[in-house]
Amino acid sequence: MSLAAKKPLILLGMPSTHAGAWRFPGAAPDFHRNFAHMKWFAQTLERGCFDGLFLPDSLALRAGTPQTLMCSASVATLDPLTLLPALAAVTQHLGLIATASTTYNEPYMLARRLASLDVISQGRAGWNLVTSSNPNEAANFGEKSHLEHSLRYKRAREFFTVMDGLWQSWDADAFCMDSDRGVYVDPDKMHVLDHHDTHFSVRGPLNVARSVQHRPVIVQAGASEAGMQIAAETAEVVFTYQIDMASAQRFYAQMQNRARAAGRHTPLKILPAVLVVLGDTLAEAQEKRATLDALVDDQSSLATLSVALGHDISQYDPAGLLPDIPDSNASKSGRDRVVALAQREQLSILALARRICGYQGLEMVGTADMIAGHMEHWFTQRAADGFNILFSHLPGGVSEFVDHVVPLLQQRGLLRQRYEGQTFRDNLGLATP
Ligand SMILES: Cc1cc2nc3c(=O)[nH]c(=O)nc-3n(C[C@H](O)[C@H](O)[C@H](O)COP(=O)(O)O)c2cc1C
Repeated sequence: MSLAAKKPLILLGMPSTHAGAWRFPGAAPDFHRNFAHMKWFAQTLERGCFDGLFLPDSLALRAGTPQTLMCSASVATLDPLTLLPALAAVTQHLGLIATASTTYNEPYMLARRLASLDVISQGRAGWNLVTSSNPNEAANFGEKSHLEHSLRYKRAREFFTVMDGLWQSWDADAFCMDSDRGVYVDPDKMHVLDHHDTHFSVRGPLNVARSVQHRPVIVQAGASEAGMQIAAETAEVVFTYQIDMASAQRFYAQMQNRARAAGRHTPLKILPAVLVVLGDTLAEAQEKRATLDALVDDQSSLATLSVALGHDISQYDPAGLLPDIPDSNASKSGRDRVVALAQREQLSILALARRICGYQGLEMVGTADMIAGHMEHWFTQRAADGFNILFSHLPGGVSEFVDHVVPLLQQRGLLRQRYEGQTFRDNLGLATP
């Protein structure tokens, strides 16, 4: 039986978001804004037969004073839609997922840029559709505040409809390029969108040809009611933060049911984010994990907590418990998760902030064998189709994973030994839209 028939585990790699990662012994502090490092990262993921590289994005600094922000490596990143075409030129198989906001973009522009990435990479583009979780983005686009949460999702739904329509501007064989007849393109194979609705008026067609995988792979990570619904209707891959297997299994089943109810025929690929910390022994891995958290700066973490809650918490005593926090216009599910964690573990504000700024999602800490075993267990128990992996630190964390965990996943028949598909969608086992 081919690996595709066995539905292999999907692996994506992403730059570390743990605030202590850049200070970890051996880490390259400028990793994610240095092209040479990012090129090496993409090529190393490809050496490990990963499905793709995911770039998160935000169009503003996180909230905080200059002093607090000075402690975070996330103050400067590279624009995903500038970086990924460059990475497409130095890789051959790796899927390349760009995050782009439906709140602070125009659909024609974004459809064109993503279609160009898809053509340049020969069918390896993906789009992580976000409505923007960082409220500071508003001030960079002439707005005082974010569009209200439900309106952001209504705009996103229409935004997707326009993008999808634009990506169908040309039939696959529209460009006949018949030099004898002097006919470059067959006008009967061109489709004018002519979209006019609440948020957008876009005539089309798109002036980029169709890529070999027809359109970029659609990724979504909504966790609120509106977020999960748009994922069910539009996404092919769903990113999620999960902590324990039981709730991950519930989320998995719920998302597949929602997608079926929305008329989708191909199951969604559900990928929890996981922080992987590897050691020769469990004790060594646990020590590395503790080192990582100890490197998080207190002021920076308090500022990050304010953003996560959509509420300025600098007015409260950091040693005290979290008071009742009013609802906000920021990411709802993110806020609820933080409040629930504080209540569940009765954390002081500072302890909570350290957890949020470090990493609060699923983690796999242990030897290569233990990590391969955990991944297989989540996969076979229908809690995940694969993982979106954050490494303890870069470059070391990813080479350790590729050298030690990847061969074990391959031995267990969970991961390809070489790429079989031509496009990102082929490798993910997704149908052509
Ligand atoms: C793995 C993962 C990566 C994410 N990356 C981004 C990102 O790069 N930019 C962003 O604005 N939001 C990002 N999000 C946040 C989601 O888009 C979404 O806003 C969040 O999960 C909360 O859902 P809600 O908007 O439905 O409340 C990410 C979420 C997950 C789980």
